[in-house]
Amino acid sequence: MIDWHINSWKKFVINQQPDWLKQKKYKDNIKIISSFPPLVFPEECDTLKSLIAKAQKGEMFLLQGGDCAERFNDFTSAKIKNKLKILLQMSAVISYGTKKKIIKVGRMAGQYAKPRTSKYEKIGNKCLPVYMGDAVNDTTLDSNSRKPNPDRLIQSYHYAAATLNHLRAFTHSGLAEINKINTWNLKNIKETKSIKNYNKIVESISSSLSTLDSKAFAKMKLTDFFTSHEALLLDYEQALTRKNTNSKAWYNCSAHLLWIGNRTRNIDSAHVEFLSGVSNPIAVKIGPDVSEDEILDLALKLNPTNEPGKLLFIIRMGHDKIDLHLPKMIRKIMRHRRKILWVSDPMHGNTIVTNQGIKTRHFEDILKELTSFIKIHKELNTIPGGVHIELTSDNVTECLGGTTKKIEPTNLNEKYETACDPRLNNDQSLELAFLLNKLLK
Ligand code: PEP
Ligand code: CO
Repeated sequence: MIDWHINSWKKFVINQQPDWLKQKKYKDNIKIISSFPPLVFPEECDTLKSLIAKAQKGEMFLLQGGDCAERFNDFTSAKIKNKLKILLQMSAVISYGTKKKIIKVGRMAGQYAKPRTSKYEKIGNKCLPVYMGDAVNDTTLDSNSRKPNPDRLIQSYHYAAATLNHLRAFTHSGLAEINKINTWNLKNIKETKSIKNYNKIVESISSSLSTLDSKAFAKMKLTDFFTSHEALLLDYEQALTRKNTNSKAWYNCSAHLLWIGNRTRNIDSAHVEFLSGVSNPIAVKIGPDVSEDEILDLALKLNPTNEPGKLLFIIRMGHDKIDLHLPKMIRKIMRHRRKILWVSDPMHGNTIVTNQGIKTRHFEDILKELTSFIKIHKELNTIPGGVHIELTSDNVTECLGGTTKKIEPTNLNEKYETACDPRLNNDQSLELAFLLNKLLK
């Protein structure tokens, strides 16, 4: 941070960048993006930071969710509205049970770049560059579609801007207000156990609202909605990073909250260097290989002044590893009195591949990791501050299990649509929110 400047990351090791073949076009496009208006404003990032600071004290709870990889093809009003709706419904459920306000953050309006384990993918006798998100290439299995295309960066900006505009329109027109909760009940779909439970909660929220005075009512508004994505493509992120004219601080104006993925979170990486200089709230994904010293180094580099609400650690260990690793990490951070919001991503450490070669996750494993995460925090008297979930409101069959409509291995092919990692469907997401309620009590 001491010698940080907007370009300082370029002296550090950079991983997970596509091989942009058309270098001139690439550079020209980055220049064009740097002339575009910011997508979010510093003041909004500061508001989010102040809410995260409250969550660090246990006064709020963070719900972050959305697709693993957002698709340009999914840019329809219905898809955006439904994704927002499932997050609002989960928030209502969690809030009802915990009596805490929920900070809602979408993996939305910019989650277009994906880090990958391998650079290439073998399909039959063809070897193609791997799909790295719609900001880079397309999922279609031919070499032309898989070539990193710099024009997609410009498209990413426009899709993010238009998605954000639509989200703002929905939230500001009242969709997200608690008094509209009646309109989000689930009467028209088959009544499963979680839908019945959900409708009961909706009824009891609505009846308590009718007796509230207007001041209490105003306080219950759910209109704040924030955006986030993995800050992977650093030239793109830099192009949208701007100096605030008042405070002279730098803000990454591509989203309110940016996270560093588990594959790019080494202390000497370009990603950590770049994000150490921006004033947004920053999250880091923490896998089971991170050592206690590394986690402390990350806390010191990314938040040297120990500013409240600034730094989140998103724990994604795997249900069988979390008990071994997380307690040591929390103790280390506590000994050094660093302010962190501890968030559980119970998805990414629990990915498996079936015999048929399908990537999936067991609802049971997801729940186990979440249960351990909360139990560990209770034992250490620290705060389980939020969850980070890959989900969709569509009725996909990507993750196994769930009790309302159990997905079996033989169902996976029925509606498997994700471009990257398997997501919880609408029912599984709601069910998780109910279970989370019980766990947090
Ligand atoms: C992701 O969030 O989609 C992801 C790739 O996560 P991680 O960096 O934790 O593996
Ligand atoms: Co993912």
